[in-house]
Amino acid sequence: MDSSRISLRRFKLSDADDFLKWASDDRVTRYLRWNTITSKEEAVTYLEKVAIPHPWRRSICLEDRSIGYISIRPESGDERCRAHVSYAVGTEYWGQGIVTVALKMAVSMVFNEFPDLVRLEGLVEVENKGSQRVLEKVGFLKEGLLRKYGFCKGEIRDMFIYSFLVSDNMVPEKN
Ligand SMILES: CC(C)(COP(=O)(O)OP(=O)(O)OC[C@H]1O[C@@H](n2cnc3c(N)ncnc32)[C@H](O)[C@@H]1OP(=O)(O)O)[C@@H](O)C(=O)NCCC(=O)NCCS
Repeated sequence: MDSSRISLRRFKLSDADDFLKWASDDRVTRYLRWNTITSKEEAVTYLEKVAIPHPWRRSICLEDRSIGYISIRPESGDERCRAHVSYAVGTEYWGQGIVTVALKMAVSMVFNEFPDLVRLEGLVEVENKGSQRVLEKVGFLKEGLLRKYGFCKGEIRDMFIYSFLVSDNMVPEKN
């Protein structure tokens, strides 16, 4: 995948059809905290009420069409040094390096936009090997296993915790 085709931008209501294509797929939402979107109406409401007002949620775009998302949510008050990362892309785009490129872009952007931010955290289910690999390819450090940590799709699950600090170096692109 030529990384110049990939961009991050804010969501727009006019993304509803493209958003619905990937957000209506249970394989995409399986490890996400939000539920599969089932109609155009639900897609518009989600974009309007959740995605657009989010503090930092960007559409992962291929030639400006939405194929996924990446979000980084800084905590507030004294915890604003820390932010949680999450992401997904449509299944037809899996395995092409897209989220790795998108996460690298996002990491650079948020440390510039949120000057108090020091630490990014990713929580990943033990069986979600693709997501663990993405974090490792960007340069996140696996810190350990949090037992029975996160509630997802009706179950309390064990999760690996990864972090990336503002002082860490991203893994460079291979030539
Ligand atoms: C996980 C996800 C974000 C990865 O996105 P992607 O664009 O396919 O990621 P990349 O192509 O950049 O990298 C994926 C890496 O994982 C590897 N991988 C994928 N599935 C794997 C598996 N079952 N076992 C081991 N490695 C796996 C790929 O081979 C690739 O590594 P490589 O480049 O060394 O070959 C994507 O599959 C997705 O959207 N999943 C659903 C949502 C989700 O799980 N989000 C994360 C929640 S924590």
